[in-house]
Amino acid sequence: MNLTTEQKEKVETLLSQMTLTEKLGQMNQVSVSIVGSFDVSFEELIEMLTDGRISQEEFGKLMAGARKDYHKDDIRAGKVGALMVDDPVEYNRLQKIAVEETRLGIPIINGRDIIHGCLSIFPIAIAEAGSFDPELFEETAAMAAREARSQGISWFYSPMVDVARDARWGRVSEGPGEDPCLASVFASAKIRGLQDHRESTETYVAACMKHFAAYGAVEGGRDYNTTNMSLSRLYNVYLPPFKAGIEAGAASIMASFNDLNGVPNTVNPFLLRNILKDDWKFPGFVVSDANAIRECVSHGIARDETDAGVQAVNAGMDMDMGTEIFNKDLPAAIEKGLVSMDTIDEAVRRILSVKVWLGLFEHPYLTDGEIHRYDVLPEEHRALCLRAAQESIVLLRNKDHLLPLSKKTRISLVGALAADADETTGAWAISYRSGDLTSIKDAFAEYGVSMSYHAVCGPESDINEEELEAVLHEDSDVIVAVVGEAKSMSGEASSRADITLPGRQREMLEKLLTCGKPVIAILMNGRPLALSWEDEHLDAIIEGWHLGIGMGEALAQVLFGEINPSGKLSSTFPRMSGQCPVYYAHTNTGRPGGRSKFTSKYMDAGYKPLYPFGYGLSYTEFACENLAVTQTRDALQVSVDVSNTGDREGAVTVQLYMRDVTASLVRPVKELKGFQRVDLQPGEKRSLSFTLWKRDMGFYNNEGKYLTEDGAFQIFAGTSSEDCLMDEVEVTF
Ligand code: GLC
Repeated sequence: MNLTTEQKEKVETLLSQMTLTEKLGQMNQVSVSIVGSFDVSFEELIEMLTDGRISQEEFGKLMAGARKDYHKDDIRAGKVGALMVDDPVEYNRLQKIAVEETRLGIPIINGRDIIHGCLSIFPIAIAEAGSFDPELFEETAAMAAREARSQGISWFYSPMVDVARDARWGRVSEGPGEDPCLASVFASAKIRGLQDHRESTETYVAACMKHFAAYGAVEGGRDYNTTNMSLSRLYNVYLPPFKAGIEAGAASIMASFNDLNGVPNTVNPFLLRNILKDDWKFPGFVVSDANAIRECVSHGIARDETDAGVQAVNAGMDMDMGTEIFNKDLPAAIEKGLVSMDTIDEAVRRILSVKVWLGLFEHPYLTDGEIHRYDVLPEEHRALCLRAAQESIVLLRNKDHLLPLSKKTRISLVGALAADADETTGAWAISYRSGDLTSIKDAFAEYGVSMSYHAVCGPESDINEEELEAVLHEDSDVIVAVVGEAKSMSGEASSRADITLPGRQREMLEKLLTCGKPVIAILMNGRPLALSWEDEHLDAIIEGWHLGIGMGEALAQVLFGEINPSGKLSSTFPRMSGQCPVYYAHTNTGRPGGRSKFTSKYMDAGYKPLYPFGYGLSYTEFACENLAVTQTRDALQVSVDVSNTGDREGAVTVQLYMRDVTASLVRPVKELKGFQRVDLQPGEKRSLSFTLWKRDMGFYNNEGKYLTEDGAFQIFAGTSSEDCLMDEVEVTF
């Protein structure tokens, strides 16, 4: 995010004219005014969401406050700088007050949680990351930006780039998986997609990368919980995606709820000032997560709300989401000298810079043409939804090459999820139109599948014995069971201690197997699941995640072979819930897991996961050979040949890993350093080259210092984190 000299001057001129009230107003994001009409406090709203009285979607709507006045007088008095409005007409109305009825006419920035699509709903991030397709990451973001701007949304609370390695945490669904390299590629591609297509103010938005930082490391996978780690782990695992996104120009950052080593990130100067603003020279602004400043009292780091507000703004927090503490408590604090005007001016400067960069001063309102531009989703948008879904599907099991099915196959389609179009959208889909969605069942029917349908059972429903009997006795060739999680079981405040299939779905599968037909499971889920039983007993398993608008059609195309699945896992699948956290980039330990009792493993689950990071099957076969590593002064040049040894076209992602065999800190047994997705015809061989820069082969130590150390390195290349060729080289830096 770069400003012209003229834009910088505009910011300074405005700043020089602003009163303290107007400055603090810019630092105030009002997102819960709607709650007034429900006569509940924000805390009660969070409670309603947590105990399931309202869904994530309802929470989003309530947060957006689409139908009530937002402190109109506050806006008129210049006390509101940012809003969360999901209705374009409402947006225009409130923006008009801000621009035409306030003293300085500073427009409001309107932010929303557009995580995986606005009107076009794409796959949830954990799924899309598995496409290993950076162009796709960027294209879906760019399309979401265009659609959102037409709805008055110029600020996205995304991309969420929290590396996460514990599938019990519900928010793994929102992020790009367990690996810092993949997450970094994802982060920078998303920032480019959201911010760089600046043909007009209708084609780009300000990103807000979140949640800074290490939120994905919540202890026990329990949301909002504490995080505790060494500096080396923070720098090597959790910070890289944020650094990559900032290098790509991210306009804003959201601090995370969690405390890091005892300091809530909302009031953490080490993160917000030392790293983000001083070391990384981040030019944008930092916003708190919803209500997070107030929650610093609950954390036990602030005596009261004023103390929380003072600590937050002094730590580098520029905007307060949802508590109005900055507005209400900072004037007295400034009076007492607890907060300097320089601190306030820095925050306001950052916020105004983003508003100027967004063109909000020149184009604050939506025209009718803009508002209705996407009333009918254009074919190009639907096509991208389909492509994203196709590339994100992962084939986990295909016993005896059962799949793809012939089009003549008669299927018994089973599972309540198969008939629920809304469930295809996943967590944090908040601005789509139900009429744009298609259930898997309807998509299969449109595809011409010869099938019967019986719900039988869903993630939250009982088994319908009658329907089950009907399935067991009907005349079909195979059973396709759509099973998984309700979308409300992943996303925020959705941690699960037991990550097997919820409800009685496994029991249903057991009963379905008694009829002796092949049983194929299509998974709809927002996190890796513990699927040992399913892997042992079912004939095929397709990971369908929550793929959005293109889900049903893409699954039909994969099931019947029109599309060859090419997705890979961006997150490891455990054998049992108790293996969590489980991930490929683990250290070796002194007793690496093995046959001997006295090695690092579980007696009841071993040490290997069920499906590793980077894994995904195809309807064809691929082979890697001829791995060669040559060393130049600054880099390792790696080449490897990959062939399609099967009988049909297919895409495969070849992954490059490295291991620093001996170092001053123990290093992971593998670290992803690059990947290339290639499409190969049957029999085709491609020679791939990777450049591994020596500067990227180091690590941060526990003083936060980046080191590269001479010694032996193992270089791996393959089609998953487990299926790799390896070569060892001596490297000097
Ligand atoms: C939520 C989430 C955050 C979201 C914000 C605004 O609590 O933690 O990801 O952007 O509130 O909805």
